[in-house]
Amino acid sequence: EDARLGGFPHYMQKEIFEQPQVFYNTLQAVRESPDALDLLRGRDRLTIVACGSSYHAGLLYKYLLEMYCGVAVLVEQGSEFKYYPPPLSGTVIGISQSGETADTLAALKMAQSRGCKTVAVTNVVGSTITRMTDATIHLRAGPEMSVAATKSFIAQLAAGLGITDALTDGSHAEENTRINVRIEEILTIPITEAVGLCSSASSLFYIGRGLFYPAALEGALKMKEISYIHAEGYAAGELKHGPFALLSGETPVIAIAIPGAAYPVMLSNIKEIKARGAPVIAIGLAGDIELAELADIFIELPKAPESTAVATVSVLLQRLAYETADSLGRDIDKPRNLAKSVTVE
Ligand code: AGP
Repeated sequence: EDARLGGFPHYMQKEIFEQPQVFYNTLQAVRESPDALDLLRGRDRLTIVACGSSYHAGLLYKYLLEMYCGVAVLVEQGSEFKYYPPPLSGTVIGISQSGETADTLAALKMAQSRGCKTVAVTNVVGSTITRMTDATIHLRAGPEMSVAATKSFIAQLAAGLGITDALTDGSHAEENTRINVRIEEILTIPITEAVGLCSSASSLFYIGRGLFYPAALEGALKMKEISYIHAEGYAAGELKHGPFALLSGETPVIAIAIPGAAYPVMLSNIKEIKARGAPVIAIGLAGDIELAELADIFIELPKAPESTAVATVSVLLQRLAYETADSLGRDIDKPRNLAKSVTVE
């Protein structure tokens, strides 16, 4: 066991640290998946089915493909899709790390029965999903031992960026090849103060807009899964439609504020949250003085465009969950009540 952990105390941390290499491997894998790419090209709409973290990756694909490729994307949870399928046509993508999640497989079967082509995005060669779909993108993240998805999520994101690049004739290629170096930088950024604030909280909110909304959902899922602290991810603009009632000095808000279309309004959201007494941990880009002044704790990431920053933010939030759970002495690799893959509906 010790040898397999390679000096890390937990598989989750080991898997977080493998991510720069994983990112690189997955981009390569996408380039070597012409059959899958052919089923995605030339479509004006795509449907995605997935569960849990893979569903969050699906939401990232929606923003990427809509923003950069002009493709309309519908993202559905596998568990809903089978019983309440949307009108279907064209290609349906199933995202599943394990390739064995019953709800995702059932949804894909339903799509096939309605005449759709199907593409799998999975980390497990020879898994059920690869045998039932028309084409597969293998993530090449290597086996993921920790119940909490980390490197498989980053690989799913890398595949989304690779697909975006393929559908835009290489317009993201140069930027994508720099992302692994950016992720490397995130592995050592000090976050002790933020970890301290999170570990003493009983409830946390994560907010973001655009690509950073799914990143917020995933950050919150990771936190609740391994630290057992209640955490909710929200699109930043939705907080005032109800959750504001819960804000107090005891509910830290993790606000992802990366320059982009919604950046000015994100700053206003942070001011509104501060005015209601909640401490703010802001995640932004280096040199953002305005954000640093607004926040109680400011975590600065290397300057990068949004599609790179979503990778660095995601890794940072994995670390925040991991280090918080570790400081609370949780059973990180095997959280209570959870299984690595959910093979029953
Ligand atoms: C993530 O940390 C979870 N372990 C879980 O949400 C997982 O992503 C979900 O069960 C889907 O699994 P899959 O990717 O293997 O289909």
